[in-house]
Amino acid sequence: MLQHKHILLGVSGGIAAFKAAALASKLTQAGASVKVIMTEHAKQFVTPLTFQALTRERVYDDTFAEKDPEKVAHIDIADWADLFIIAPATANVIGKAAHGIADDMLLTTFLAATCPVYFAPAMNVNMYQHPAVVENMNTLKERNYTFIEPGDGYLACGWVGKGRLAEPDEIVAFLEAEEKAHTPLAGKKLLVTAGPTYEYVDPVRVFTNPSTGKMGFAVAAEAAAMGADVTLIAGPVHLNALPGVKRINVTTAEEMYNEVTKIYSSMDIVVKSAAVADYKPKTILAQKAKKQNGDMDIPMERTKDILAELGKKKTHQLLIGFAAESNNIVEYAKDKLERKNLDMVIANNITSEDAGFRSETNRVIIVQREQNPEDMPLMTKTETAKEILARIENMLIKDA
Ligand code: CTP
Repeated sequence: MLQHKHILLGVSGGIAAFKAAALASKLTQAGASVKVIMTEHAKQFVTPLTFQALTRERVYDDTFAEKDPEKVAHIDIADWADLFIIAPATANVIGKAAHGIADDMLLTTFLAATCPVYFAPAMNVNMYQHPAVVENMNTLKERNYTFIEPGDGYLACGWVGKGRLAEPDEIVAFLEAEEKAHTPLAGKKLLVTAGPTYEYVDPVRVFTNPSTGKMGFAVAAEAAAMGADVTLIAGPVHLNALPGVKRINVTTAEEMYNEVTKIYSSMDIVVKSAAVADYKPKTILAQKAKKQNGDMDIPMERTKDILAELGKKKTHQLLIGFAAESNNIVEYAKDKLERKNLDMVIANNITSEDAGFRSETNRVIIVQREQNPEDMPLMTKTETAKEILARIENMLIKDA
């Protein structure tokens, strides 16, 4: 959730400033770009070089050290930030923030920031419980700033009680959960279908295709990580359950149709990545067919086109289909978009060796209404899933 996020870390002057170094490191490892602002008092405990080395960014500690004449640093980094975490937040910084005092780089940036700001307090238990500090924290909470509660335990001053800075891992988990709760996909009901279907000829023989389900599973996993409420309807695949994803296993196209239609009306988004059989044997033999001399004909009939049915019944849902094509890819994808009443088609060229069935990677063309087709580079299926979900998020933002 924190990957590619721009995070400002404000470090104020308490002994817990040493833990802020671990926090800067963990945020950087989580894939975020981290810029650190230190107060003069913080520099009594940890040096700017520590944070510079951990984040590979210059550390901001002086409002008047305007190194770039083109920019006003505290405004520039406030605008740059997606989120701002002040850890440790001392009683002094909390008090000044509550009263709009802006006498250093951290506080001027705080006043200029429009992104979510989080305070992780750390101080002596008696200071933490002092009515002035409590009132200042309440003022900030009323203004929609969020506090990450300190822990209980042995404090550096020798007292035991509440006031220990939350552990860096807890702070990272807290920020990730906050980000997840605020994505456009948060709480959206998303249905993914994945894998092949089996159409039985007799008890031991099936018509199927080489789909592994990996693309659909990647979409389900990423969507769940982005806060969506994900249901995965999977054909016969050899893939493990995904944490936080409801999974319904099916075998045939008909079973998939039944399970999808049961829940369709309650869904917000449907991603139909399953490679559903278009035909099934007209009759399923009750006993195993014995081989005969000569050829064998198996009469086949059409299965229901699940996606086309969903397109007909569509009310509020976003409907995303896949198109496995070997020629005229964009033309066929556009045709599918119209014919099946879809919002997006992910087309892949099944003749390309590094894309499609069985491959770990995918090379897709994303076709949306009123937009030029996007020819994506070769990516892993997880990266492809992220690109698809980013476009779904854009659609949700536009519709909001
Ligand atoms: N699909 C479906 N039900 C079917 C067949 C396909 O829901 N019985 C869905 C797939 O999940 C996929 C999309 O339709 O999202 C495209 O499937 P594909 O087989 O590539 O194309 P078709 O629409 O069946 O058209 P054609 O066979 O002409 O390529």
